[in-house]
Amino acid sequence: MMNGMQLDGYAQVKKIGTGISTLDDILYGGLPEGSQNVIMGQPGTGKSILAFHMAYANAKLGIPCTVILIDQRREDFIKNVVSAFPHLESLHDLIDKNMINISENPAYDKFTTKEEMMTFIAGIIKSAQSNNSKIVVIDELSILRALLSDDREFTRMMNYITENLHLINVTSIMTIELPSSGTRTKIPGLFEESMFDGVIRLANLVDGDETEHVCAIVRMRFSKFKSTSNAMKITPDGVIMSPLK
Ligand SMILES: Nc1ncnc2c1ncn2[C@@H]1O[C@H](COP(=O)(O)OP(=O)(O)OP(=O)(O)O)[C@@H](O)[C@H]1O
Ligand SMILES: [Mg+2]
Repeated sequence: MMNGMQLDGYAQVKKIGTGISTLDDILYGGLPEGSQNVIMGQPGTGKSILAFHMAYANAKLGIPCTVILIDQRREDFIKNVVSAFPHLESLHDLIDKNMINISENPAYDKFTTKEEMMTFIAGIIKSAQSNNSKIVVIDELSILRALLSDDREFTRMMNYITENLHLINVTSIMTIELPSSGTRTKIPGLFEESMFDGVIRLANLVDGDETEHVCAIVRMRFSKFKSTSNAMKITPDGVIMSPLK
């Protein structure tokens, strides 16, 4: 009975395609519309590139998107994605048409009051609303831990961010870095991860002098998913995935 009800519920959930057919397959169509998702992984595993690709693929379909940059400059980010994807010639067009809005929302100072946290989040929401975004990418959030007094405050901040994105009814994809050493798969500084509906994990598989990016869905509310690992390749045309051999 419970299973049947859940399946019926899942069937009604609308999906946002990721622009990557293998990823859409393992997500049974894509990310649930209105879900708050995190891509986590060690440095250099492809978090920013994957998150950008999802926004770009949707912007091309006419779905307005926002990319919020917290730890890097807008020109640097654009320069890097253009160099990673030399065939994405329509990016500047999409930016001109306000279909993809790339905004800096840096956090320079320590947050000392709830008001300061809320002002920061209001900046994100304002950017997302400026072009009526359906998808919001935030790259990247782990930097905020250093600007908050303790893990409790960081957890609170992540809750505020996801709640506010939920309120404006967007599907979000946030990136968070895992420590570069060790095999930790929990987000440092976070008490619990339940504010995220979906958790996507990236890793680098090193084999001699070859490094392969690997992607797996850890958790996804409101959707069935396959928990298989997939090879992720960054090609001149975009990100592609294939089931790991
Ligand atoms: N300009 C580029 N050209 C080709 N490949 C690139 C380019 N930029 C990134 N990559 C590939 O993507 C990987 C890193 O991508 P990305 O910057 O998305 O990772 P990340 O997980 O966000 O890393 P970081 O922790 O540094 O933010 C690199 O290891 C490389 O394989
Ligand atoms: Mg990054």
